[in-house]
Amino acid sequence: MNNTMKLNTKITLNNGVQIPILGLGTWKIGDSKVEEIIPSALNIGYRHIDTAATYQNEVGAGKALLKSGIAREDVFITTKLWNTDHGYDKAIAACDKSLQNLGLSYVDLYLIHWPVADLFIETWAAMEELLASGKCRAIGVSNFTIKHLESLMKQSTIIPAVNQVEFSPYLYQKELLDFCISQGIQLEAYSPLTRGNKLANPKLAEIAERYGKSTAQILIRWSLQTGLVVIPKASSPVHLRENADVFNFEISADDMQILNSFNEDLHICWNPEKEA
Ligand SMILES: NC(=O)c1ccc[n+]([C@@H]2O[C@H](COP(=O)([O-])OP(=O)(O)OC[C@H]3O[C@@H](n4cnc5c(N)ncnc54)[C@H](OP(=O)(O)O)[C@@H]3O)[C@@H](O)[C@H]2O)c1
Repeated sequence: MNNTMKLNTKITLNNGVQIPILGLGTWKIGDSKVEEIIPSALNIGYRHIDTAATYQNEVGAGKALLKSGIAREDVFITTKLWNTDHGYDKAIAACDKSLQNLGLSYVDLYLIHWPVADLFIETWAAMEELLASGKCRAIGVSNFTIKHLESLMKQSTIIPAVNQVEFSPYLYQKELLDFCISQGIQLEAYSPLTRGNKLANPKLAEIAERYGKSTAQILIRWSLQTGLVVIPKASSPVHLRENADVFNFEISADDMQILNSFNEDLHICWNPEKEA
């Protein structure tokens, strides 16, 4: 689908729900700023917003959505269950709280933010219940390694629809990607721009120059051509527009290989191999 991808292209998840391939990350964008930036994103054509209870901007995100006048079913909203809300009862209550903050009756995707050891299995049982109740259209996980996924799938009924992990050419988690593909779990890339750390890298800049694109656009396009859902964060209209302008070119197979070879296991965020 490379050539035909657009900002409103969707991937069908393992339960039939469709997720837009490019979303807006909102970490570190506070309530009032998010209320400004989400309408700008929606105007540009974004239809997928990634938030989390711990970002403390669900209220602003909900207000922005309401103000936009765009039909609820046309925008894909993800939020996440934070580490202190693990366990069956707490998880049910955490989802209700997020829905209340957002002013919504359901989210499109509810993720376990982090695989808190000894608790995520019990939490997943609550996620399955939340899915059955219609409070979430799809459920998934974040920061899960292959080990976490195997353990979860052995002890539960529903396979996660999504695993949201840090992913970029500098953290090319090929084994995890292949595993998720084999299990029907969609990988979603967070910190796809390496939080800016690699945007001035000369080897990346050289590729960007070949396409007349920015290094940020190359990283986003690489994620999409790798088959990932990608959620770059932007807090200015200039960045929002630039990050959405990645559908009028295609990275060649050779350049994709070069980008894949940039891997240096660079974790800008947290490393679930070490910290879980
Ligand atoms: N599940 C998890 O554990 C987890 C962890 C981390 C992140 N996430 C999600 O993933 C999203 C994205 O990850 P991230 O925020 O860590 O990092 P990121 O998207 O890799 O990078 C964001 C940074 O890049 C800058 N930027 C954006 N567009 C740019 C452009 N075109 N040119 C130059 N700089 C640009 C942003 O600046 P401005 O803000 O100034 O535009 C910001 O400083 C988060 O916002 C969050 O929704 C999830």
